[in-house]
Amino acid sequence: MTTVQDIRDRTGDDPITMLTAYDTPTARIADEAGIDILLVGDSMGNAVMGYDSTLPVTVDDVASRTGAVARGTADALVVADMPFLSYGADEADAVENAGRLIREAGADAVKLECGPHTVGLTERLVNLGIPVMAHVGLTPQRINQLGLEQQGATAEAAAEIESLAETHQTAGAFSVVLEHVPDEVAADITAALSMPTIGIGAGDATDGQVLVVTDVLGLSENVPPFAEQFGDVAAEMRSAIEGYRDAVVDGSFPGDD
Ligand code: KIV
Ligand code: NA
Repeated sequence: MTTVQDIRDRTGDDPITMLTAYDTPTARIADEAGIDILLVGDSMGNAVMGYDSTLPVTVDDVASRTGAVARGTADALVVADMPFLSYGADEADAVENAGRLIREAGADAVKLECGPHTVGLTERLVNLGIPVMAHVGLTPQRINQLGLEQQGATAEAAAEIESLAETHQTAGAFSVVLEHVPDEVAADITAALSMPTIGIGAGDATDGQVLVVTDVLGLSENVPPFAEQFGDVAAEMRSAIEGYRDAVVDGSFPGDD
């Protein structure tokens, strides 16, 4: 069993592998493949729910899919994303929503897209026994303000991101996702922090990497420039489904026996 403590100590030469998952069979395969952390990301909105952003994803959506992932996982740490507006407005609601993802759905930790407003919340959740993974740089829940642009391109912006990561470390976060920031910024932040950094579009100096599973598998329609496709599962699915359809149409399925 991978624990939050295992991950907190994994800085340096033994890269952390993190991948999103949204369903039981995918979680089982990723877990058996030795992925350290399964993230039930709000990227489910784009990846498997047909939305064009993460904003419509609800706590019910994340809870349902976290349950499915947790039931397929034996070894990996399961981290559930707190979706848009499920935190940051009212602290009691945020605690209740995070609690649902842990208590009902079976997540081991939650992830928050960070701002100055999530420092106190991180401390509160950690004090209550809910481990927190921070997320800085590009935070797609702010798509209407940031777009999907790289963040931290100027020295001031980079310093702000680093300081946000540091305040969340002090508040008790056990790790941080750095999304779509320049490689040197990710390297500087990784050197400055004692908790591990997990990068996406952040170069190779971070303590780990994360990707969206549909991008890795070749199931995504729109792939960000920093993602990498490691297979063509869409072609396999098309071939299996067409094979089934053709066999019914031509009468070869079901056969006599
Ligand atoms: O929702 C997600 O998949 C994420 C990762 C890209 C870090 O937040
Ligand atoms: Na996310």
